[in-house]
Amino acid sequence: MAEQPLNRVVVAGGTGLVGRALVKALLAQGSQVTVLTRHPGSAVVPTGARVRGWIGLAKELEGLDAVFNLAGEGLADRRWTQGRRALLRASRVGPTEEIVEALRACAQRPAVLVNASAIGYYGPGDDSPVSELNPAGKGFLADLCQAWEGAALPARDLGVRVLLPRLGVVLARDGGALPKMARPVRLGLGSRLGHGRQGLSWIHLQDLVALLLAAARNPAWGGPFNATAPEPVSQAAFVRLLARRLHRPLLPLPGWLSSISLRLLLGDLGRELLLEGAYVHPGKAEGLDFPFRFPTPEAALDDLL
Ligand SMILES: NC(=O)c1ccc[n+]([C@@H]2O[C@H](COP(=O)([O-])OP(=O)(O)OC[C@H]3O[C@@H](n4cnc5c(N)ncnc54)[C@H](OP(=O)(O)O)[C@@H]3O)[C@@H](O)[C@H]2O)c1
Repeated sequence: MAEQPLNRVVVAGGTGLVGRALVKALLAQGSQVTVLTRHPGSAVVPTGARVRGWIGLAKELEGLDAVFNLAGEGLADRRWTQGRRALLRASRVGPTEEIVEALRACAQRPAVLVNASAIGYYGPGDDSPVSELNPAGKGFLADLCQAWEGAALPARDLGVRVLLPRLGVVLARDGGALPKMARPVRLGLGSRLGHGRQGLSWIHLQDLVALLLAAARNPAWGGPFNATAPEPVSQAAFVRLLARRLHRPLLPLPGWLSSISLRLLLGDLGRELLLEGAYVHPGKAEGLDFPFRFPTPEAALDDLL
């Protein structure tokens, strides 16, 4: 099958951690990129990208090659109060619905919609491997991801190829989870969280961007796929690796103590994001021979730290 060109693309949420890296990669390969943002007057984007607000979206999407949608309020930014939960959901489902409605109004629709989702789709698991064949799990994140993906899927009926990358924890030098995880370790305050056996399914930012571009270009990709590295690890193993790379000792905190503190400090956010996890494998990416540059946590941390 012929490769899908990415000459003209829109990146919604292109000001974020993943979006900035994706926009840079698209520009480097010669694409004409428009970043969709809530703050078109003040958004800082890589040189060469255009900036637009969400108003008049259908006109903006007319005749494009691809739309990438990464918009959503930060999941780990604040405690999950009732209001925050509503915002986390609305900030993902709402923009996705707006994009699908705009696609409906287009005379010449983009060929591909790449709509972010997350491995939270699978809910918490034990230590058995999780692939795209696993069903949706239970909990706030699993419900949110199902609603998010459900909002994007109607674009299929419009003749658009819909890709739903379920992102793992994105590891990057500046921003995202890694600097937050490395800070206590650098201060000599790192420890495993809870029993530490919960799966941490991660991906290096560079591999994620390459994966999103490969999937958008290659018509063999469709539907949901796990955007994670081939070697998920336990939280305890990851923090041990961090401590070794940073030449710091770990605190031998009993698991119950960190469990109680995280639940008290962060509530359900602490439980669902830090104390629970799953070992998510990139079955589809491996089946399509995607070449991971950073397949192991050692390789990723060597590059990033
Ligand atoms: N980073 C990870 O480890 C990870 C893991 C799993 C899933 N994901 C998902 O992947 C997507 C991209 O991740 P990221 O780390 O790049 O996120 P990010 O840095 O938080 O950026 C997300 C972007 O979404 C836009 N946004 C925020 N609130 C919004 C709202 N209420 N309405 C519309 N747009 C809003 C913002 O753009 P403007 O302010 O310019 O509008 C922001 O730049 C997110 O949806 C995230 O949930 C990320």
